[in-house]
Amino acid sequence: MDTPNLSHLTLKDYEQVYEPAEDSFLMLDALELDLTLIRNIKPLLIIEIGSGSGITITALAKALGHTAQYFATDINPYACDVTIKTSIQNNTQIEMFEMDLFTNFRSNIFDIIIFNPPYVVTESSEIFLSNGIERSWAGGSKGREITDRVLLQVKNMLSDKGLFYLVTIEENDPNDICNIMKKQGFYFEMVIERKVRGEHLKIFRFSLQKF
Ligand SMILES: C[S@@+](CC[C@H](N)C(=O)[O-])C[C@H]1O[C@@H](n2cnc3c(N)ncnc32)[C@H](O)[C@@H]1O
Repeated sequence: MDTPNLSHLTLKDYEQVYEPAEDSFLMLDALELDLTLIRNIKPLLIIEIGSGSGITITALAKALGHTAQYFATDINPYACDVTIKTSIQNNTQIEMFEMDLFTNFRSNIFDIIIFNPPYVVTESSEIFLSNGIERSWAGGSKGREITDRVLLQVKNMLSDKGLFYLVTIEENDPNDICNIMKKQGFYFEMVIERKVRGEHLKIFRFSLQKF
């Protein structure tokens, strides 16, 4: 998968929007490893929650082309502007929504859901300081407070053949995340893991069908 061109973004943008880092690039690697599977399920509607710079959803849109429709949400209005700019810069079309998670969409419509959440362990109160860049990392207790909300909702948003990709670190207790999903009838697989700068990143794929 080609890494999108982000040359339009400046240091000033990265004061307000999450600059792609190891977690973002690991998600790109995971999607690339899974590209045949993703193509095989013939996804029509694809969404990234918390798109930040837009690097991930744009990369997928470039790889799959016009066979699907692409959506992105972010709670940070600046990230919404930047994602749109990234999609234009890379000749892709992404519908951007300034939104909390994917709350305003209809049920069971997405074939692919991608989330690189704010996963750092922080005080719960830190999550709600602003809708700015702090939202990129502040994950509250166990770094799970935002992820847990998605785990509760994702079954209602994913289509039967759908795939849900999630970034975790050890502090998030990935085993517990997998158990929560298993109890809801999801299969899971760790697509890729990497240890970087004191973080053990793992990306999981969850699905209601076994692939
Ligand atoms: C770790 S950053 C990931 C950004 C980008 N996807 C990447 O991989 O580089 C998390 C993103 O989620 C967004 N976010 C946090 N809480 C959110 C929420 N409740 N609803 C929507 N987006 C949220 C943040 O603003 C931030 O852009």
